[in-house]
Amino acid sequence: MTEPQPFSPKSVALLEEIRKKYPTGRAALMPALYVAQEEFGWLRPEALKAVAEFLGLPEMTVRSTATFYSMYRHRKAGRNVIRLCTNVSCMVLGAGTLKGVLGNVYGLAPGGTSPDGRFSLEVADCIGACGKGPAMIVNDDLHTGLDAKKILEVLENYK
Ligand code: FES
Repeated sequence: MTEPQPFSPKSVALLEEIRKKYPTGRAALMPALYVAQEEFGWLRPEALKAVAEFLGLPEMTVRSTATFYSMYRHRKAGRNVIRLCTNVSCMVLGAGTLKGVLGNVYGLAPGGTSPDGRFSLEVADCIGACGKGPAMIVNDDLHTGLDAKKILEVLENYK
């Protein structure tokens, strides 16, 4: 008897597309990890195991890749994930203040989740919007030109 498939049919379709697109399982690993993260919200051990099985890779290969890159989550996240850039340009433009605002208003610390589960906060090295900082990505949405007022207005749209 085979084990139950841990992925939804939608994720299985995506994984099959990815597997066809790349020449080896190893080459397909990073996009496959994104699919797993989307499916489960974070890369829990069962998700890593499922990716390894799906791609025919050793679990250790999958685990070491997943833990090397900061965009993969290894803890359960809140309903909305904030990635706040704290690299030099954004820091000069006020990212430190924004980090303080997120702590005061939502009880968020880097790597943590608000007590109500609404937000998780990750700090990012650079999200490619250096000229328009401070910047953050919430889920898949980029927000730039933030200040203490604007960040709260933006986050009001994420329940
Ligand atoms: S330094 Fe913040 S987006 Fe590049």
